[in-house]
Amino acid sequence: MNTSPTSLAAESAGAQPPLLSVRDFALEFRTRSGTVRALQNINLDLHKGEIVGLVGESGSGKSVLSYAMLGISDRAAKVTQGSVHFGGMDLLRADESTLADLRGREISMIFQSPRTALNPIRAVGHQIEDVLRRHAAARGPNLSESLKQRAISALREVAIADPERRVNAYPFELSGGMCQRVMIALALACRPSLLVADEPTTGLDVTTQAAVMDLLTGLARERNMATLFITHDLGLAADYCDRIIVMHAGHAVESASTRALFKHPRHPYTARLITSTPTDTMRLEELAPVPGWLPDLRRTDLPACRFSERCDRAQAKCHTEAPTLDAQVDHAVACWYPNS
Ligand SMILES: Nc1ncnc2c1ncn2[C@@H]1O[C@H](COP(=O)(O)OP(=O)(O)OP(=O)(O)O)[C@@H](O)[C@H]1O
Ligand SMILES: [Mg+2]
Repeated sequence: MNTSPTSLAAESAGAQPPLLSVRDFALEFRTRSGTVRALQNINLDLHKGEIVGLVGESGSGKSVLSYAMLGISDRAAKVTQGSVHFGGMDLLRADESTLADLRGREISMIFQSPRTALNPIRAVGHQIEDVLRRHAAARGPNLSESLKQRAISALREVAIADPERRVNAYPFELSGGMCQRVMIALALACRPSLLVADEPTTGLDVTTQAAVMDLLTGLARERNMATLFITHDLGLAADYCDRIIVMHAGHAVESASTRALFKHPRHPYTARLITSTPTDTMRLEELAPVPGWLPDLRRTDLPACRFSERCDRAQAKCHTEAPTLDAQVDHAVACWYPNS
């Protein structure tokens, strides 16, 4: 596991106001089988040029958080508290047309499973042209170029060989790795300042995964783009992110530079997560899974710290008083009894 050096952009990021800022955010799903308290007490900042990993077990709320921040939510979802600001704009109060304009132009998303996210009956070049047309005012390097030429350039930028020919290809004619490159081309076509990538390499073999991650993070650095990279793979986040935010059962429990998080995890959950992640030099017997399971988020008696029932350090206070994470602190932890 290689803890990548923090980029210059990210190092100086602290001095500037964050590009994206989430405060005291809470969201629930009202379903027939009960209210799912999916997110609570979420505080996070994302600065220009930073690559931030959002990690946590399956069901910890990574996807719900990233979609909800951008105003994409299931009808059953209800934001019960908090604010989300992007470049100073309050996204939770923005109308749908403002949000639609922002999405794809200033903020872009890469969804899991590229084949289902791409339109199967439209040539990939046309799909890129659609995005460019929708955001006609978008900043592009060569606005005088024809849309087709710009689609070809977009494919070239994501290292698709023979883009003049591939621009006419349908998704089924491309490999999984190539479809993922097309998704990246689509997401970056309008040069967004924020990219949210949800498990962008799931389903790809290890070599293709590394190639796609190299490409994505390379372009992010080149364009000084803020990137929220969602993954349940802590090892992958370690290899590519400047900073990591750890989620557990709908709470953000720790946020730190990648180096600090691995060297000195403060939250007992993070420490467990690290020892449950295989590394090149580790023996199989050394792997220790995180004990227990995520609590059922429909419970009405959820403990204040949702990790407390899995934690060997928990005391009475952990069940009754919720620790919160201060997004403005370099190494922040939401725990009453963290590693000092
Ligand atoms: N539409 C919905 N209705 C009810 N509950 C939902 C809905 N969508 C998500 N949830 C619940 O919200 C919680 C967080 O889900 P989410 O999909 O964000 O997890 P995740 O961290 O992205 O997991 P994974 O790593 O598997 O993608 C889960 O308990 C999930 O069951
Ligand atoms: Mg998810």
